[in-house]
Amino acid sequence: MSDILFEPLRFRNLTVKNRMFRSNISGRFDNYDGSGTQARINWEVKFARGGVGAIISSFCPVHPRGRIIPNYATIYDDDRIPFWKAVGKAVHEHDCRYILQLSHGGRQRDVPDLAYPKGQSSTDKEDPLHGFECDRMTTADITEVVGSFAEGARRARDAGLDGVELHGANGYLITQFLSSAINDRKDEYGGPLENRARFVLEIVRAIRARVGRDFHLQMKISAVEHNNSLFVLKREGPGNTLEESVQVCKWLVEAGVDAIHVSTGSAFPHPRNPAGADLDVDLLSHTYAQLASSGTNTFRNLLLFRNDLTAALFRKQWEDAGVPKDQIEGLSLPDARVIKKAVTVPVLCTGGFQTASVIRKAITDGDCDGVSMARTLVANNDLVRQFAAGRDQAERPCTYCNKCLVHVVEHPIGCYEEKRYPSREAMLREVMSVFHPPAFS
Ligand SMILES: Cc1cc2nc3c(=O)[nH]c(=O)nc-3n(C[C@H](O)[C@H](O)[C@H](O)COP(=O)(O)O)c2cc1C
Ligand code: SF4
Repeated sequence: MSDILFEPLRFRNLTVKNRMFRSNISGRFDNYDGSGTQARINWEVKFARGGVGAIISSFCPVHPRGRIIPNYATIYDDDRIPFWKAVGKAVHEHDCRYILQLSHGGRQRDVPDLAYPKGQSSTDKEDPLHGFECDRMTTADITEVVGSFAEGARRARDAGLDGVELHGANGYLITQFLSSAINDRKDEYGGPLENRARFVLEIVRAIRARVGRDFHLQMKISAVEHNNSLFVLKREGPGNTLEESVQVCKWLVEAGVDAIHVSTGSAFPHPRNPAGADLDVDLLSHTYAQLASSGTNTFRNLLLFRNDLTAALFRKQWEDAGVPKDQIEGLSLPDARVIKKAVTVPVLCTGGFQTASVIRKAITDGDCDGVSMARTLVANNDLVRQFAAGRDQAERPCTYCNKCLVHVVEHPIGCYEEKRYPSREAMLREVMSVFHPPAFS
């Protein structure tokens, strides 16, 4: 009997061999100037080899001012096309599709680069968690950034990639326009939902005008923003509801989007995304030093993480605002289900997936058409192959400890949950394997 997990997923312009996608995730292993390296190719190939049907890249800036951290490969210049061509070619060799995530950080970033220490946004309010300052975008700025997304899509197509995803989730620039909590504009890009959605709809139309109708375009959206779940975020209000996001998804599809990728939370990270049961604030108190001079709150936050009492309070807040460990797998399925009922295109869902029977049930119940997995594949790169061999779960599943997340601003991305390995040395060997083979030519 055929298994829905391994049935092809047909989008309007793209067919993917199975229902499991690698969700957006990577580390700081490219060059400071935003050009790519062999390490990124090695990273992506790990998952292609592991059996996923498609890889959705990590945050890929379409504009120099949209970068969130140095050493992430970018797509804002034609001279980046050969690198992305090499990524696509390497992944395609494993019968895996590659979708590039077109992104702009807006006011939300981790480590600013030398060229643009200040972000830009729908607002001029700094982000409440780190205090990253930003300029309110003018209409001319908006037009420029819309054009950058269209050029990013054109470059992805020229590189032979299989599609693009708009990063409209997790608090980055598109969310900053969509969000009722963040967007405080008085012009035609702020106020009612149809105005807040204008920016992203202009991007979709500009992409369609640039690349035509026959190139895959999907959008990742935070279906519910939960923007007031932490006390520092409360002053901005709860943000968009599911009903509002459903309306936005319908407009996106009308404008030419081929799929919706459902996420959650108005910021990144957010207690619900990536959801974790046991935030390691001690580790955070070390790696967060990378951010200490970036925002107006970051030095204060660092002190807070380094003090035992305030660190414990923060950890408790973070956990209370998140979801219990046994509810992490599929936490956004209820939102995906509602969106799927409202739109005519396939829906992907992200959040905690790592059990074949859970994914199978989500698809057969009609909650979504496929799932995307990030940490769970970092822990077990070959999880899809394990499912194909009949396993329901990996022997050592991802524990949702979020140590990969906490390490990522300073160290190479990888699974840092020591108890999943026979030794610390074995863990470090696995993390460092992303640098082999060494050269990109
Ligand atoms: C270290 C790290 C980096 C991430 N980077 C991105 C990103 O660049 N773009 C994005 O949309 N989501 C990003 N995510 C979110 C994941 O793609 C995914 O949606 C989320 O972690 C939930 O899935 P999971 O439980 O399988 O990890 C990142 C997550 C982690 C842990
Ligand atoms: S460090 Fe490993 S176990 Fe922990 S969340 Fe990341 S991938 Fe999962």
